[in-house]
Amino acid sequence: MVTIKDIAREVGVSPSTVSRALSGSPLISDETGERVRMAAQRLGYERNELARALVKGSSEAIGLIVPDITNTFFADIARGVGEVAHAAGYGVILCNTIGSIDREASYISLLRRKQVDGLVLATATLNDPSTRSLSQTETPFILVSRICRDVDTSYVIGNDRAGARLAVEHLIELGHRKIGFIGGPANVQSSRDRRATYRKVLRQHGLSADDAWVCYADFTQAAGREAGRRILSLENRPTAIFAANDVTALGVLEAADELDLSVPEDLSLVGYDDISYASLPRIQLTTVAQPTFKMGKIATEWLLSVLGKEDTLPLYRVLEPHLVVRSTTARPG
Ligand code: RIB
Repeated sequence: MVTIKDIAREVGVSPSTVSRALSGSPLISDETGERVRMAAQRLGYERNELARALVKGSSEAIGLIVPDITNTFFADIARGVGEVAHAAGYGVILCNTIGSIDREASYISLLRRKQVDGLVLATATLNDPSTRSLSQTETPFILVSRICRDVDTSYVIGNDRAGARLAVEHLIELGHRKIGFIGGPANVQSSRDRRATYRKVLRQHGLSADDAWVCYADFTQAAGREAGRRILSLENRPTAIFAANDVTALGVLEAADELDLSVPEDLSLVGYDDISYASLPRIQLTTVAQPTFKMGKIATEWLLSVLGKEDTLPLYRVLEPHLVVRSTTARPG
């Protein structure tokens, strides 16, 4: 690895002159500065970011922790985070927990040891021990898309109750009376809120659901497929399903296909998120759209505004979803 000493030897100056030249010090003449930069480039010098972070007190990097990198919902959040970070000269270190609380804790610890300037967490769960411990440290952070109700911390989330209401009322308006629900993990607030609202809206319309039509899953396609198979194989099966995210809905579409059920003729299906796959011509999923990219942007704008300041107000931001009606919903057959 090329060091500052190698450049100094090449140019014939001292290592401290090289160091000053590379950090743009006005004490170095333009001519020496240029020679040092050219030599650094020629030799393939990469600066030691950790050492630099120690000197500057900033790594110019933030951490982003997501629960499932294969779900493009989180890719859209990452895009929003990346846009804002890049424009401000920050890098983003992305970690994927695959839904594990232990990995979340170890990534938070790793990123703090790597001296990131702040964190954006899309992984919060109810009674999340990591969020609680992080709130007792000096590291600024913000939750995005999921909250941990018992820790008072900044967040940017979607209005899950309003979104679930849009989904269920759409199905009821179409004439469905037998509506199932496949949730995400029971320890994720958005999953619980969507389920609670599903039940409430049914009640408000004088409807109820068979217990066999309702379950928590884990926001993955495989879990959606498995739950879909089970619910759609029932003798008394629902005519519609509200899946608590689009990836789960894709799994339900697979299950319907396996069981020779047509969508929307035999089954209406609504997802949640409006990920890019939802609008593909052969999928055309009716869904509740979240402003995901905007969530990532707003969270990062707040985080960067906090860095280096002591008096920034916390941010509690709830963004409104909207219903996108496509071809997976229709009147019951
Ligand atoms: O698809 C992942 C889900 O997890 C999203 O609906 C989001 O709101 C989060 O809670």
